[in-house]
Amino acid sequence: MNKATDRAGADGKTVRRGAPAAATPRRAPSAGGVSAGEARVPEAPGRLELRHVGRSFEGRKVVDDVSFALHPGQVTCLLGPSGCGKSTTLRIAAGVDHQDEGEVLIDGEVISDDRMHMPPEKRSVGLMFQDFALFPHLDVERNIAFGLRGSAAEKRARVKELLEKVDLLGYEHKFPHELSGGEQQRVALARALAPRPRVMLMDEPFSGLDMRLRDEVRDGALDLLKEEGTAVLLVTHEPDEAMRMADEILLMRAGRIVQRGAPYNIYNNPVDREAAAFFSDINVIRGVVRNSLTETPFGQFLAPGLPDGTEVEIVIRPQHLKMDFDRGGKGPAPTPEDGVPARGIVERARFMGGQSLVEFRMEHDGSRLTASVPAVFLPPPGTPLWLSLRRDRCFVFPRGVADASEAGERVEGDATQEAPAPPRAAE
Ligand SMILES: Nc1ncnc2c1ncn2[C@@H]1O[C@H](COP(=O)(O)OP(=O)(O)OP(=O)(O)O)[C@@H](O)[C@H]1O
Ligand SMILES: [Mg+2]
Repeated sequence: MNKATDRAGADGKTVRRGAPAAATPRRAPSAGGVSAGEARVPEAPGRLELRHVGRSFEGRKVVDDVSFALHPGQVTCLLGPSGCGKSTTLRIAAGVDHQDEGEVLIDGEVISDDRMHMPPEKRSVGLMFQDFALFPHLDVERNIAFGLRGSAAEKRARVKELLEKVDLLGYEHKFPHELSGGEQQRVALARALAPRPRVMLMDEPFSGLDMRLRDEVRDGALDLLKEEGTAVLLVTHEPDEAMRMADEILLMRAGRIVQRGAPYNIYNNPVDREAAAFFSDINVIRGVVRNSLTETPFGQFLAPGLPDGTEVEIVIRPQHLKMDFDRGGKGPAPTPEDGVPARGIVERARFMGGQSLVEFRMEHDGSRLTASVPAVFLPPPGTPLWLSLRRDRCFVFPRGVADASEAGERVEGDATQEAPAPPRAAE
């Protein structure tokens, strides 16, 4: 038995009004700026909220000071590598596990802390896991209607409405073994949504599907969840899935949320090298700070606030390297946008379908860099080419100091199409 349910009020729903979440700052809607002393318009509380939640197993903290809020019609993705604490966080949100620290709130009311714990069935939370199981002895209609209350006519109407939304009308009387994987998944989604849960918690729900089917099911599920206005937490270790589905990504590492924001912002303004590398291959160019500048063969980069002698890493994604032909040993002239070109020798070029990847060994230090272009470009090994860096796409990080998981969390703005961070490259 879950130890935590023992602590719940006898009715399982003893609640306490929570204090505002200091750890989940969101912009209050306001006309113009809000100056000190002026009243702030309070933002509606999240449907489901975690505040400063922690959980340890055998003395090891696997969820560490995690705070976030889920809002109606919004998909929040908890994204991170295997073992970082995603499922544990989701289980705490669902109420099937109990945090050691912090609290869980629904509509601004504390429903779980160190004194009480509302059990899962009282939380109006739908759950969907990778190993979802339809009842094999029930047909589609009865699978979906399983958790529904009301008259037979009401249940039938809700089942029909959902089957229409998942595009499976006419499948009412089929049994699970007569359905494809994608169809089963859509039935599972319809079943989870049937009782109109206010919150949907999904743990890698699409990972059992093959790639093409997955995109289709994912997009359909997303439309449906938005239509129903459900507040969604989607757990995944796949950055592509998070980018495709999320309104907000919570990037998790070793139990902590190290960065949060819209997909565009997280991708274009990573908090550290590891966050950049989680979303794509990266190139790393090393340098050392002198007078707040890092000198590299690609030009100078600003390193404000870093003391002389600090080793820095300039990180750039392969699609942001530019390639130019060699003209009698010369490359293109330096520009403010692309800095100084450096020459490399092609080691290998591969066609990847949507793009070509070209790997170089650089002449100045023998380091390897990879550039990609969205076209067929396959120069033979040994070809000299000039590479330059799109300076507004470079990220400069100090090397070997505390990473984001120790240094704290970065909260990105709400904008979904905001420009990337200002370049930290010297003019
Ligand atoms: N009941 C438990 N007892 C002991 N350790 C546990 C328990 N549940 C989880 N853990 C450990 O906590 C850590 C986080 O586990 P969790 O399942 O939350 O990871 P995850 O991010 O969901 O990983 P994955 O992507 O592989 O599913 C892991 O190291 C796991 O071994
Ligand atoms: Mg997991």
